Amino acid sequence: MRAVAAFPADRTMRVVDHPEPRLEREGDALVEVLDVGICGTDREIARFEYGSPPPGAPYLVIGHESLGRVAEVGPAVTRVKPGDLVVTMVRRPCGHPECKACTRGRQDFCFTGDFTERGIKGRHGFMAERVVDDAGYMHVVPAHLREVGVLVEPLTIAEKALIQVWDVQERLPWTPAGVPPGSGHGEKALVLGAGPVGLLGALALLARGFETWVYSLEPPDGPKARWVESVGARYLAPPGTALPDLARRIGNVDLVYEATGAASVAFRALEALGTNGVFVFTGVPGRKAPIALDAGVLMRNLVLRNQLVFGTVNAGPDAFEAAVDDLARFHARWPAALGALVTGRHPPEAAPALLAGPAAGIKEVVSFAGAR
Ligand code: BGC
Ligand code: ZN
Repeated sequence: MRAVAAFPADRTMRVVDHPEPRLEREGDALVEVLDVGICGTDREIARFEYGSPPPGAPYLVIGHESLGRVAEVGPAVTRVKPGDLVVTMVRRPCGHPECKACTRGRQDFCFTGDFTERGIKGRHGFMAERVVDDAGYMHVVPAHLREVGVLVEPLTIAEKALIQVWDVQERLPWTPAGVPPGSGHGEKALVLGAGPVGLLGALALLARGFETWVYSLEPPDGPKARWVESVGARYLAPPGTALPDLARRIGNVDLVYEATGAASVAFRALEALGTNGVFVFTGVPGRKAPIALDAGVLMRNLVLRNQLVFGTVNAGPDAFEAAVDDLARFHARWPAALGALVTGRHPPEAAPALLAGPAAGIKEVVSFAGAR
């Protein structure tokens, strides 16, 4: 069967004839892949700056943002059934008995770093016609979300971030009257970056009632800005708004959700974080020249404003469940805007060129559905 693979030895991306996967354990399910999203991580793998094939393998089948349809299940599987649409989780445990995270099924917090990730680190991914995995890693997506289900995995980044934000903000000894826990009503959130992770994060914040701003470099009269305003958030961009103006434009910034991977933007925006605010880093910066920043100002603000900064990667089962629920909510409230995030579907043969070319569109998808 066809799969899209990265060959580190000659640094090429190719469509390969990969062995058919088969059910191996009683808890396995076989999935016909429909859509696989392309993200910045895949582009890094295609530049051979990140990722690794399974031990001894000449190539890595890429792809970690997937949507597929269950075709066959092992005798012990009750979680999914043939015909179900599913998204499969990315990370697998490190296997070290002393890893408190992995032994509890929370490899998204793995201590040892010896975890594997499908399509990224030491394990083949989902950009293939069919895949097999333990059904315990699969999350069912309602049938009506077929066209947007590929957005579940990138949305899990925001969901894991928000789950942690509710936990850390329990430190604030007041509950807004009449507002359920986990609500952003009356709070101000700033999203940095207007890629898929940023825009999906903005929807997650809006859906919880946050007053939401998106800061990005695209022009304020462009399609990204129009999309942001169409869902009810506000768009800020230079030169109209420079990074040091953010706090003046917004007021007390309660939450910053960083989704740029650009240290120069992120740390300047950290200066705009408000009193009792939380700043969440999700972007992984590439190797760039060091940047200058006034660490004294940042430290002063952290202390005198009770601020909290954390980073977050990957996602656990709770974030996957939340992402499926939220995607259904977004689909009901913003059907056109949500659909517009998927800007292109391409056959697998187009993947190597797509990965090598400049990032175009919002979420470009490799689709295996056309071949069936
Ligand atoms: C994926 C995560 C993964 C991370 C680091 C991201 O693109 O969404 O699942 O943990 O890359 O490899
Ligand atoms: Zn671990």
